[in-house]
Amino acid sequence: MEESKDRVKNLSRRSFFKVATLGIGTAASFLLGLPLIGSIVGKGKIFLHKTYSRLVPVKDIPNSFSPVKRPSKYHFPKTDQDAYITTKKMENVWVVKKSEKEITTFSPICPHLGCRYDWDQEKKLFVCPCHNSIYTIEGKVVSGPAPRGLDTLPTEVKDQDVLYVEYERFKVGVPQKIIIGY
Ligand code: FES
Repeated sequence: MEESKDRVKNLSRRSFFKVATLGIGTAASFLLGLPLIGSIVGKGKIFLHKTYSRLVPVKDIPNSFSPVKRPSKYHFPKTDQDAYITTKKMENVWVVKKSEKEITTFSPICPHLGCRYDWDQEKKLFVCPCHNSIYTIEGKVVSGPAPRGLDTLPTEVKDQDVLYVEYERFKVGVPQKIIIGY
């Protein structure tokens, strides 16, 4: 009788440890899996929120080659979505208009290491203040450490001749143009 009571006790102790081990194992797997889920959701996020932002009517963009060689800089409100949080911030792009049908839009970020470059009206070139990469108005590298030319952005003309831009972010410091976000 005594022996069978001991056996029952031992069995229930063993069952308890089995259930506890299973529970701890499941919790650990879940916690270890969180970063993976996060990275998948995070990567998905990059491709979920690309949108075209309204820039300016095409007729209002001055010709960038005549009478003066000068690109135009346009600011626009950009919406960022991070999980459930939506934020708005101002962003800008450079627009080079050759004719009504030939318009190029550049990301404002230097492809060397990510500083914001500017237009030098005296030199008639884009110049990055950080490490002195210099680009033509067409975005080609003239000198400096930049591994590639300025990054062009996709545009669309709609709503009766209004220029829209899809803002993209690219990997810096590499010769290839690789999108890393919007
Ligand atoms: S970040 Fe522009 S030259 Fe280095």
